[in-house]
Amino acid sequence: MSTTVIILAAGKGTRMRSNLPKVLQPLAGCPLLGHVIETAKKLHAKNIITIFGHGGHLVQERFNHENIQWVEQTEQLGTGHAVKVTLPVLPQDGISLILSGDVPCVQQSTLQRLLDVSTETGIGLVTLTLEDSTGYGRIVRKDGKIQAIVEHKDASEQQRQIKEINTGIYCVSNAKLHEWLPKLSNDNAQGEYYLTDIVAMALADGMEIASIQPELAFEVEGINDRIQLAALEREFQAYQAKQLMQQGVHLIDPARFDLRGQLSVGTDVRIDINVIIEGNCSFGDHVEIGAGCIIKNTHIAAGTKVQPYSIFDNAIVGNNVQIGPFARLRPGAKLANEVHIGNFVEVKNTSIGQGSKANHFAYLGDAEIGAESNIGAGTITCNYDGANKHKTIIGDQAFIGTNNSLVAPVKIGHGATTGAGSVITHDVADNCLAFERAKQISKENYQRPQKVTK
Ligand code: UD1
Ligand code: CA
Repeated sequence: MSTTVIILAAGKGTRMRSNLPKVLQPLAGCPLLGHVIETAKKLHAKNIITIFGHGGHLVQERFNHENIQWVEQTEQLGTGHAVKVTLPVLPQDGISLILSGDVPCVQQSTLQRLLDVSTETGIGLVTLTLEDSTGYGRIVRKDGKIQAIVEHKDASEQQRQIKEINTGIYCVSNAKLHEWLPKLSNDNAQGEYYLTDIVAMALADGMEIASIQPELAFEVEGINDRIQLAALEREFQAYQAKQLMQQGVHLIDPARFDLRGQLSVGTDVRIDINVIIEGNCSFGDHVEIGAGCIIKNTHIAAGTKVQPYSIFDNAIVGNNVQIGPFARLRPGAKLANEVHIGNFVEVKNTSIGQGSKANHFAYLGDAEIGAESNIGAGTITCNYDGANKHKTIIGDQAFIGTNNSLVAPVKIGHGATTGAGSVITHDVADNCLAFERAKQISKENYQRPQKVTK
């Protein structure tokens, strides 16, 4: 049976007190709606229909690379009305999973279970038992069978004692949605068209309502304000940290670890506290990451050790490299095996060959550096003339003296040496020594100026 995913995302999210639509607020670096879309895609749904309202063009723009059918709900008249506006594009057959754009953590396995039980009955929901069920729609059962969902505002005192709640995640036959939704009324405490009223319609049609509970409670937590957003962020991070530890990662403190994207790991990777990982990253066997590093879209091969407070953005790092503390690898930094990058060294759009070292204070930009070369402390590649960028090429086994300015375009040969303090503006041939420095002047017995006393 073909599956459609319907995502409700028209709510304004007033309680966020933000100019950004609620479903675009980030959780673990990805918009709330992005999490739901990613999960929907894993289910190989035939189509994904998203209902937008407030700030709709921003939401559509953010996901315009995705294959999504957008349906506008101009007025937010309730969850039932929201699904009703999809009817013109909803297939006549098959089944629909109905999700909320502000419930980001629901897992594929939970939705798959819901699909399995609902395929049998034609309607199913995800429920949850909560100690404090205030505010939620309550699940009313008789002899164990679901009889109704009663909204908090419409519930009797007795019904309000019920701890089993409606999570707002449903799976319903499309034929039935076409039949039922036009019949919804808004005769209730909130004057809204309740999607939950389809339960009564299913019972009237002699159907049984299937239900499942999520494996983990945080899967069905919705976001209304920034307090809930921050709380769910920590729960989601704890969940990801646990998964990494189960894969064998040594997280020194899982409560001080943030993954905003995907990380794939080898064995015995060790990550110290307050590390932030973004985008797509991979760490090979025995990689060690020191405290406070921020690593984005970077691949680090086996045996590499990164010391604290180093920053990576779109870099590729080889085996057994040593980096930091306080190093910065910017886009296009490519380090071969056994390279050493020390403190306050910035590398951008530069490849560094095997075993080469830049251990202290340097800027290496738009350069190609060979193997086993040494870049002295304070070396700067002057790559920018105010209009264009130029290349610096350094051969193998070169020795760049301390505090050199290498004015690009410039080429320094294999085995070449440059003297400390030089401004190198001309190419240096293989095995040549080049230095550029004013002659030192020495004045004997020099008297410094004296302070004038008034
Ligand atoms: C709904 C359920 C309630 C359940 C709760 C779980 C109904 C009538 N009630 O309540 O049983 O316990 O979710 O959180 O369905 N939305 C639209 N258009 C609208 C109204 C809502 O797109 O006109 C979207 C919202 O953006 C949100 C979702 O639907 O993503 C749920 O709406 P919300 O107002 O939070 O539902 P509740 O009234 O809290
Ligand atoms: Ca509501």
